[in-house]
Amino acid sequence: MERASQDISLSDKKREDLLMLLKSAQAEYRHIPRAFIVDTAKALGLPENQVFGVASFYAFLSVEPLGKHVIRICQNLPCYLKNSRMIIDSVKKKIGIIPGETTPDGRFSLELVSCIGACDVAPAMLVNHDVHGNLTPQRISEILNTYD
Ligand code: FES
Repeated sequence: MERASQDISLSDKKREDLLMLLKSAQAEYRHIPRAFIVDTAKALGLPENQVFGVASFYAFLSVEPLGKHVIRICQNLPCYLKNSRMIIDSVKKKIGIIPGETTPDGRFSLELVSCIGACDVAPAMLVNHDVHGNLTPQRISEILNTYD
């Protein structure tokens, strides 16, 4: 809640500029480096904690380094009712990490997220920006093998 109120105090223009900068840093570095937060805060005339708050609030931004491929599995009710728990377990077994972790080789990170807008093909997950739906444990290995 505190993060949301910090975010609300930004003007629309500054929020737009900040999100654009954070998204570009995320794409370039696979996370938002601390030095980038400091520089961005100076450039936009914002407190560092406010920039950090925005960078750590959104699911598609991370202040921690992420793997080359980020797997985001939906854990909301429609996916849950279609056995997303089994999908989560299959991914964990396949890549050997739990949600919030990155494989030692930096290939994959795993996150549990809210609805990704693919409820019609639940259970669903994203790998980077690719939506994969109607998942079964058998398909997990096949899908993840396509990401080098
Ligand atoms: S609830 Fe899972 S994609 Fe919408």
